[in-house]
Amino acid sequence: MSPMCMYSCENGIANDFHFVHYGSRAQGGTGLIMVEATGVEPRGRITNHCMGIWNDEQAEALTKIVGFVHSHSESKIGIQLAHAGRKGSTWNNLQIPLEEGWETVAPSAIPYHPSERIPHVLTVEEIREQVQNFKEAAKRAVKAGFDIIEIHGAHGYLVHQFLSPLSNIRTDEYGGSFENRIRFLLEIVEAVNEVLDENTALFVRISGTEYADNGWDINDSVELAKVLKEHSVDLVDVSSGGNIHGAKISVFNGYQVPFSSQVRNEAGVKTGAVGLITTTDQAEEILQKGDADLIFVARAILRNPYMAVQGSFEMKKDCFFPHQYTRAKISS
Ligand SMILES: Cc1cc2nc3c(=O)[nH]c(=O)nc-3n(C[C@H](O)[C@H](O)[C@H](O)COP(=O)(O)O)c2cc1C
Repeated sequence: MSPMCMYSCENGIANDFHFVHYGSRAQGGTGLIMVEATGVEPRGRITNHCMGIWNDEQAEALTKIVGFVHSHSESKIGIQLAHAGRKGSTWNNLQIPLEEGWETVAPSAIPYHPSERIPHVLTVEEIREQVQNFKEAAKRAVKAGFDIIEIHGAHGYLVHQFLSPLSNIRTDEYGGSFENRIRFLLEIVEAVNEVLDENTALFVRISGTEYADNGWDINDSVELAKVLKEHSVDLVDVSSGGNIHGAKISVFNGYQVPFSSQVRNEAGVKTGAVGLITTTDQAEEILQKGDADLIFVARAILRNPYMAVQGSFEMKKDCFFPHQYTRAKISS
């Protein structure tokens, strides 16, 4: 299950909705459930109703979900740690007034859309505070029992804003060259690695390309993946887009799989593929062809929480199914 914001929290705290939402995907035999983009500080949320993990109350609510998944299924559960940067303070993709939202932050004074407020440019000291926010969030996530921590470096959010030369025009050590633009992400990776135990894997989601001239592209992604591998990142989850308003994207079944394949084969890292993968047959084919090591499914698993178990019945493969439901198991 790919991370998906549900915009259903108050004060960033998971509630009964999230318990049932994630719990039912565990009942459905999902191999890995990735909890939605979760803000590492209040300004890191996209909306006022996004999930957060900047305090213990928020972590406590997540502990209950992790506990259910571990005790009632064979699923692994991860959490995507995120900071929205200049794409925060919105509702329905539109920026909300300052009084109802907040001043956004970014590497440079460039809004996502020209109609939006100019974001506050993070100072070097403030960048270090953000790295610390990711570290503290990871510490809470490990304590809550998550099996995987994913850093959200895709879709035009803060980490991606640093990576791209179109949203990052800094002239200090965090901007300019490729090495400088990836520095923020590497510092987060290093800080998070310090608090992970040996049972917790580290993933990074990236946008393989941002579909813009002179922007972040697939060759940058391959180079970044090589560096991430050296920094003990276990898997690169390859999505695309999100940083450039109005970018032209050609969308078709499995349209992002080639990005995963290129990163996997050229950087020699494990990758996840995502994007219009809607059937278990399609997912299996991607794995068999060596285009990815893991398949993330978003909208199809919203439509059908039992996608994994149903697919395994159809393929006559064994899959976790709640023992209480045994009488509904189709025999092979
Ligand atoms: C409702 C919704 C919320 C999403 N929220 C997130 C998110 O929190 N983090 C993220 O990386 N991607 C997010 N995405 C993108 C999905 O994880 C996925 O990459 C995308 O939908 C393509 O996969 P699909 O074709 O299987 O839906 C979201 C997508 C949907 C539909």
